[in-house]
Amino acid sequence: MFKFQVISRIYEERVSVVKEYKVGIIGFGTVGAGVAENLLLNHDCIAKRTGVRPVLHKIADLDIKTDRGIAIPEGVLTTDAQQVIDECDIVVELVGGTTIAKKFILTALNAGKSVVTANKALLALHGEELFAAAEKNNVNIYYEASVAGGIPIIKALREGLVSNRIERIYGIMNGTCNYILTRMEREGADFAPVLADAQKLGYAEANPSLDIDGFDTAHKTAILASLAYGKWFGLDSVYVEGIRDLELADIACADELGYRIKLLGIIKCDNGAVQMRVHPTLIPGKSLLAGINDVFNGVQVEGDTVGQTLFYGRGAGRKATASAVVADISDVALNMANNCTRRLPGFVPGEQFTAQLSIDDITSRYYLRLQVKDCAGVIASITQILASRSINISSLIQHEHRAEDGSVSLVVLTHPAKEKEIRSALAEIAVLSVNNSPVRLIRIEDF
Ligand code: HSE
Repeated sequence: MFKFQVISRIYEERVSVVKEYKVGIIGFGTVGAGVAENLLLNHDCIAKRTGVRPVLHKIADLDIKTDRGIAIPEGVLTTDAQQVIDECDIVVELVGGTTIAKKFILTALNAGKSVVTANKALLALHGEELFAAAEKNNVNIYYEASVAGGIPIIKALREGLVSNRIERIYGIMNGTCNYILTRMEREGADFAPVLADAQKLGYAEANPSLDIDGFDTAHKTAILASLAYGKWFGLDSVYVEGIRDLELADIACADELGYRIKLLGIIKCDNGAVQMRVHPTLIPGKSLLAGINDVFNGVQVEGDTVGQTLFYGRGAGRKATASAVVADISDVALNMANNCTRRLPGFVPGEQFTAQLSIDDITSRYYLRLQVKDCAGVIASITQILASRSINISSLIQHEHRAEDGSVSLVVLTHPAKEKEIRSALAEIAVLSVNNSPVRLIRIEDF
């Protein structure tokens, strides 16, 4: 009881000396509305915990008439983004896109204002330039909401895991894709109608190609890799394949073999060589990541000191994303209150990275599904091509069921092999007359 009273008094004292900072939001869409709502609801709780109070001062949007379901205090809404930059201490960019958003952020940074953004595409494209501007002006740019929505993965990498060399990151970081894959697997549903549902539910990006073709995950992968290895990697550093071409047959075969298929952002560093890739991946059905379903995200980080860690939560949506944005706002305010905008530099050149591996040079296990003619010697000729490149088969299944054209499906799992060897084997298999349609290739990760 006594302890509680002392702590309560400390809280009360804190609130009485709390420092207030004016927050301005540019972009009053779904996330902007969530951030406004959270600031209005929880500023007291933040003030008690941190000694700083973020005060919602301005919100700019071209449309300030549509009702977002929140009572915004009089005088807060404006159509003039410059007013937000001029009047606020902390500018929150939630416009999205890579053109006007960049202009707003640079204007704010150059005016000496710290910026919070959720804009992964912009960071992946222009991160280096934006961090240089923040550094030059001695202000912060924070971006927790850009990766995995409400999961505090950026803070974990920058602070919680600072004593680690990061060896592996595996991320399910696109809720739309995870939702689609989960429903395809659970219900045997086809890709297109499930994507339509994801769009209706508001999970997908305005352009769903960003989700299903893997680019959204690639932006996030580039950001995490940059944080982990201290070199700002652009989108073109990441090898990308999406889930558009995945077939139900692959999901069923994976299941039969004890695996599940997830769209993963994969980052690995071995002896200084970093690889970054996004593609559908077979992962062990019993692994923790395999249990992350529906719209949820999960990021598994492996450090040399901590070992394996797993972060789980909602990767999208108004409230989850607002949680991350407001945490950043509070962090920036705390930095300002303590006069230490350089407490954590946005981007620090690291020493772990020495080279980048291209996809041709990676080593992986592979799932191959071939649709072949059912006649003598087919398996022999295929395994011969693999054997001639020292590609070792770990499992092989031929289903008796014949397709309408008389072909049967042959599924091969390999032990680790070089991607370039696999590709050259597949090129040779493709010209065999026994092969009826393109071989399906999915990489396997064992945790
Ligand atoms: N469209 C993204 C997703 C949302 O489905 O996860 C935030 O990046």
